[in-house]
Amino acid sequence: MYRIGREELDAISDVLLSGKVFRYGIGDACQRFEERYGKYLGVKHVMMTSSGTTALTAALIGERIGPGDEVLVPACTYIATAIAVVAAGAIPVIVDVDASLTLDPDAVEAAIGPRTRAMIPVHMWGMVCDMDRLMEIARRRKLLVIEDACQCVGGGYKGRKVGAIGDAGAFSFNYYKNMTAGEGGACVTNNDAAVPRMGCMVDCCKFYWTSREQDESLFISNGSRASEIEGAVLNVQLKRIDPMIRTMRRQKLRILKETADTGLVPLTANSLEFECGTHVGFLMPTIEQANEFQRLTGCTIAGKTGRHVYTEWDPIFAHSGAPHPALNPFKLKENADCRMTYTKDMCAKSLDILNRSLLFGTHPDRKRADVTKLIRTLRTTAKAVLG
Ligand SMILES: Cc1ncc(COP(=O)(O)O)c(C=O)c1O
Repeated sequence: MYRIGREELDAISDVLLSGKVFRYGIGDACQRFEERYGKYLGVKHVMMTSSGTTALTAALIGERIGPGDEVLVPACTYIATAIAVVAAGAIPVIVDVDASLTLDPDAVEAAIGPRTRAMIPVHMWGMVCDMDRLMEIARRRKLLVIEDACQCVGGGYKGRKVGAIGDAGAFSFNYYKNMTAGEGGACVTNNDAAVPRMGCMVDCCKFYWTSREQDESLFISNGSRASEIEGAVLNVQLKRIDPMIRTMRRQKLRILKETADTGLVPLTANSLEFECGTHVGFLMPTIEQANEFQRLTGCTIAGKTGRHVYTEWDPIFAHSGAPHPALNPFKLKENADCRMTYTKDMCAKSLDILNRSLLFGTHPDRKRADVTKLIRTLRTTAKAVLG
């Protein structure tokens, strides 16, 4: 979904030619991006990382989630969401999504058990979760909310930027995301108390480069420090994001408007005016009709992407939580009372929705005539498939 080119190349070459390729005390690209992205999101602390997965893990550990805790994750998300929970030492509990393809608030409420400490709402395919309801449940049931905004960089919910609504949030800047440095990520929070642990996960020996007295080296971690090259690219990407999202959102609104009389039922939108608009989705009455629509148009069926459906999360199903059994959260005595039985049909409602959900991507560089062509295809295919 990204645009990338000459400006990024110039920014990278500025970093390389300056020789200032390390972030602490030498270069300023990462520092600058963290400050700018914090302002953009309306959040106090931003820490760049090497990936969205490490950003999620750092966000969870910053909030002191770990062994003994269950974390609710949606049945539809990239496997990294569940993996980050296990990497923090906790156990993921898989919960149904609704027709927005994001966490179903009713299912969340029903899934809360004595060990549940947190939920991870995942804003999927540029669409956003029902944050009002999820935050209300979280506050009432005393759960933490860690937003996975990896697929919704630049997106918002009712005027606020996603990732900055819960207790902490995580973003990915990998190749498939709205802003990219090839790889990269960031975790964010307004919680001052989470910062030392979060920072320790991101760079466990940052204290050598900042202040040894103030910086807490709390524990051993692998670290996932961002490079100045990532910082340089993202500083350019941040300038591009809003106009790109406005264009995609406009395309999506036009497609929805001009197919409104076809019988096609759009996926539930929780904040159509603020989401990213990267995908337009429709819910077919039956799986057979979804398959036929896919055959005729080449669109994506949400349930058939492989990696985004819980049934495909092999290491989670196998309880392969670490490279050595002694480090495996699924085997820890602290987690003995956590729910960790995973079955392929445990979220049958989600599978039904996902296998009936059609996704069409928008693109910032798509010409008006191409959008017109897509609308025409949707109209004729709807007539053929829905009658
Ligand atoms: C929803 C979601 N969460 C987490 C991640 C992990 O991000 P990364 O690949 O940067 O580790 C991704 C990446 O595709 C994702 O889509």
